[in-house]
Order: sequence, then C-alpha cells, then structure tokens
Amino acid sequence: MTTTLIIGGGSGMGRALAAALLTRGESVVIAGRDADRLKRAAVALPDGDLRAHTVDLADEETIVELYDHAGPVDHVVTTAVDVRDAYLPVAALDPARVHAAFDAKVVGPLLLAKYAQGRVAESLTITAGFNAHRPAPGGAVIAAANGAVEALVRALAVELAPIRVNAVAPGWVDTDLWDRLAGDERDTRLAAMAARLPVGRVGRAEDLADAFIAVSRNGFTTGSVVHIDGGQRLV
Ligand SMILES: NC(=O)c1ccc[n+]([C@@H]2O[C@H](COP(=O)([O-])OP(=O)(O)OC[C@H]3O[C@@H](n4cnc5c(N)ncnc54)[C@H](OP(=O)(O)O)[C@@H]3O)[C@@H](O)[C@H]2O)c1
Repeated sequence: MTTTLIIGGGSGMGRALAAALLTRGESVVIAGRDADRLKRAAVALPDGDLRAHTVDLADEETIVELYDHAGPVDHVVTTAVDVRDAYLPVAALDPARVHAAFDAKVVGPLLLAKYAQGRVAESLTITAGFNAHRPAPGGAVIAAANGAVEALVRALAVELAPIRVNAVAPGWVDTDLWDRLAGDERDTRLAAMAARLPVGRVGRAEDLADAFIAVSRNGFTTGSVVHIDGGQRLV
C-alpha cells in the first residue's frame, strides 16, 4: 500500500491531503509540533490507516525520530510554515522569528532530504508560495523562504535522484493559517482577494491536496514548481 508522510498534516492543506489519501484507501502519517492538533485532526479525518507523530522541523533529532516511526514511505510532503511575527516590515523583524520561518520552510525540508535516501521511495514535495513572485510590503521573510524553496527543489532533484523533488506554490487558500494571520479581518481579506482573482475565488485546501497528489505521483515530474494560485501571480 502507498504510504505518504505529511509534515503539517494536522491542519490546512496537509490535513486536506491526508483526508484525500485516506479516502483513496492509502496509508498516511501526519506530523507537526503540536500533539493535540494532531489528535484533533486524527479524530476528524476519514477512517483508515492513519498514524500521527510529533516533529519539529527546526530540530534534526526529531526528524530522524519521525522517519524511524514512519518506516519506509513512498512520498513525503511538507506544508509546514511558522508565520509567527514573520509578516512584519523589515524594520520590525526579530532575527529569531526569521530563523524559525526558514527552519519550517527551508532548513527543515533540507533535513528531510538529508535522511531521505533509503527511507523515501519516490518523491519529496515542498510547499512554496506565490509571494516569491508577487511580494507585498511586510512579506519579505516568507517571500525569501518561498524563493529558496524553488531553488532548493531544483538542486535536490539532481542530487537525490531517482527520488523526485518538486514544489507546489499556492496562492491565498482558505485554511487555519488565516485565523492567525488576519484574525477578525480574515473573511473580509479573503473575499477581497477572491474578487480580484481570475478564477473568482480563493483556494480551498482540497485544491492543494489535488495538486500534491498530482505532483508527487507523476513519475516524469522532478525539479518543478507547480503554481496553484487561481492566477494570483497575474493580478
Ligand atoms: N494558506 C495560504 O493562503 C497560503 C498561501 C501561500 C502559501 N502557503 C503555504 O502553504 C503551506 C501550508 O499552509 P496552510 O495554509 O495549510 O498552513 P497551516 O494550516 O498553518 O499549516 C501549517 C502546518 O505547519 C506545521 N508546522 C509549523 N511549523 C512547524 C515546524 N517547525 N515543524 C513541523 N511542523 C510545523 C503546523 O503545525 P504545528 O503548529 O502543530 O507544528 C501546521 O499544521 C505553507 O508552507 C504556507 O507557507 C499558504
């Protein structure tokens, strides 16, 4: 049976991916820092072969522990992002929070790659984001991290072969992330973006789940960045 390890699987796009794979009858391991978040996700996900394990992508030892717990897997997908105090004008940035953002999006995925040989059979998919291409003021840290992810998957695709390594780059997607980013303004901001986008709506977590499945399963795709953003880079 195909097994997918999803870091970030306790919420948002990662949880939607877990739901889609369990519905297909596949094996899933969800991982993240917060054990309670993982438990809540596990209760709500469809019945199936599901395991959950904590990991902090900022901590190399926990990455090795996670791989040991998961055993051999076919695919690894990471949707992890730590945005706490990362969306600020550069003049207000705390370097510790900048490092935390890069740990979740760039350094952690590099460490997932470091231990992938012999543990991951087919693919590693890392989540980037549209703002590497369409930045807004206050978004420098995550824009830089997303740009780094794009360079990273090209480099890893040649170094980790035959494991295929790709990135999915979302636009605005209605997930738990927005509760933390926008608070009470969440619905207003998402509706305003929906009105601007060529597709007339923001993304759903399920749109991204479909993309992670397509990218990770396509045996002729490696070193690619696939944009799933409703046209957000164009407007
Ligand atoms: N939603 C959007 O509009 C949007 C737009 C562009 C790009 N993206 C990208 O899409 C990806 C998924 O976003 P989402 O909306 O699904 O976010 P989300 O719901 O906030 O999920 C992020 C997940 O990452 C986990 N995480 C954070 N730091 C971690 C760490 N150091 N180690 C392990 N797990 C960690 C979190 O769990 P714990 O807190 O339990 O660790 C959480 O489950 C992110 O990479 C984000 O940058 C999102």
